[in-house]
Amino acid sequence: MTVVYSLVAITLSAIWIWWKGRGPTSKECLPHYRGWPVFGNLFQVRRERSELTFSEWTKDLGPVFSVKLLHNRFVVLSSFEAIYEALVTKGNSFSGRPTKNAFRAEVISEHFSSILHLQANQTWKKLRMICHKKIKMYDTGMKRIEAISMNIIQFLVEEFKGTNQTSFNPKDVIYNTVMNTMMTLLLGKTFTKDEELFEKVMEFEQGAIRASSPSGRGVELDVFPWLRFFGNKTYKTLKRLVELKKQVWEIMTEEASRGDLLLKEGEEDVRLVSALRDALAEEGSGLTEKHLRSVITNDIVIGGTATTSSSLYLFLNIISRHRAVQMKLQEEVDRIVGSDRTVCLTDKADMPYTQATQLELLRYSSVAPLTLPHTSLEDIVIQGKTVPAGSNVLVNLYHMHHDEDFWENPFEFQPERFLGDDGGVVPASHPNRRHLMPFGAGPRVCLGEALAKSRLFLVIASLMQKFDILPGAVSAPCDPRLLEHGLVLSSAPFQIIANERLLN
Ligand code: HEM
Repeated sequence: MTVVYSLVAITLSAIWIWWKGRGPTSKECLPHYRGWPVFGNLFQVRRERSELTFSEWTKDLGPVFSVKLLHNRFVVLSSFEAIYEALVTKGNSFSGRPTKNAFRAEVISEHFSSILHLQANQTWKKLRMICHKKIKMYDTGMKRIEAISMNIIQFLVEEFKGTNQTSFNPKDVIYNTVMNTMMTLLLGKTFTKDEELFEKVMEFEQGAIRASSPSGRGVELDVFPWLRFFGNKTYKTLKRLVELKKQVWEIMTEEASRGDLLLKEGEEDVRLVSALRDALAEEGSGLTEKHLRSVITNDIVIGGTATTSSSLYLFLNIISRHRAVQMKLQEEVDRIVGSDRTVCLTDKADMPYTQATQLELLRYSSVAPLTLPHTSLEDIVIQGKTVPAGSNVLVNLYHMHHDEDFWENPFEFQPERFLGDDGGVVPASHPNRRHLMPFGAGPRVCLGEALAKSRLFLVIASLMQKFDILPGAVSAPCDPRLLEHGLVLSSAPFQIIANERLLN
């Protein structure tokens, strides 16, 4: 009987895949490898690090090719020329996001209501504009925000000091630091990890990361959404996440009302939650609560926390093994900032080595290796090849950042590649800077680029000012080819020792 059931299930699945796979693929004319019937190239791709397979295939298939995973066909772009042409020169034509075969994203983002998942329409533009305005306030030296930011970094420093030069895993403290940066953007205040809001936001972020893994558990729901009727575990998680979003929004609006009372007369309201609340109240805004819930949880919490904390975690792994880089960073922060005051954003311009290290960290780690899938809105020619309208497009930033035909020793961590002969950071027009797009480019460029860059700078410089970071008792590879893939690339667990520097 079980055999009969299995045969029926396999046959139904094959018919489902065949049915869903029909359609525009007949236009296929891009270079590709022949795949299996029904499964396409699924068994030829390293599912947990597909960008590595795509990188290999580029040698044979060129910078624009296609790949079929079950009934999902993707166009993959790999070279700088192809990526720049698609994202920047013809960016508007590639600014769509997939809505087909994206069941998990559809549930988590409440029918594609977040900036990450919305089509490039008026609502998307409006939400991006509201967020941009608030993010900008972080970098304009506003006293209150600067004070909160410095408190967050002070907390990080104190936690490192508290380890008393013993070996420890810095993951949690980095995560809390980044999460509190997001909380400051949202509510203008920080939280401890045992407060209800912080707990719920963390549960949301970690559940969403597990449930949205591009290749791990749950991927079957994108292909067979009907599995949700048969007790699928990931679907249960997804339902919990939607519930959590509602709870987070309710607590945030309460917090925002409490915060209203604390605003001094004439003081500018810097909180993103208030701006979203005001936009919702505007007549004819076209916004609903699900947009706001999705901006807060999907865009700011998931988009902002996983990427930034993964980059900083990797920084600590890398720096514990690169003593010479560390000494140069320390020399620079000692010379420009000294030991009597804290680092501030205005120091950045005078600290080229720290800036170059940050650029190299973003290149080397490429934490968002394939960006988010884009969709082409019309038939469009890229590097002489026609990408049909409605194609799902993967942008292989990882390949561009480690392309051996362009970078010298791409798998070595060398901040110097971003420094000119005069010791300054090479200008944005320099080929090495042009080949670096860790935040994507064009209309769908990362919303949090400025915020992420300024926080990375402050944390890197502050840690170098206070500590010698040494390898601890547990090590993990930091070579980008060996990183782990969840929603973003990350280092396997490792430990460091943070020795407080004794400065005169
Ligand atoms: C090191 C840190 C970060 C990296 C490497 C990073 C990288 C990226 C990349 C590659 C994309 C996709 C661009 C595309 O689809 O072509 C993206 C989009 C996005 N990021 Fe970031 N990001 C970081 C930090 C942040 C932060 C701090 C926030 C929130 C404040 C954020 C919010 C977003 C949002 C909302 C989008 C979607 C933009 C859209 O579709 O219009 N990111 N990011």
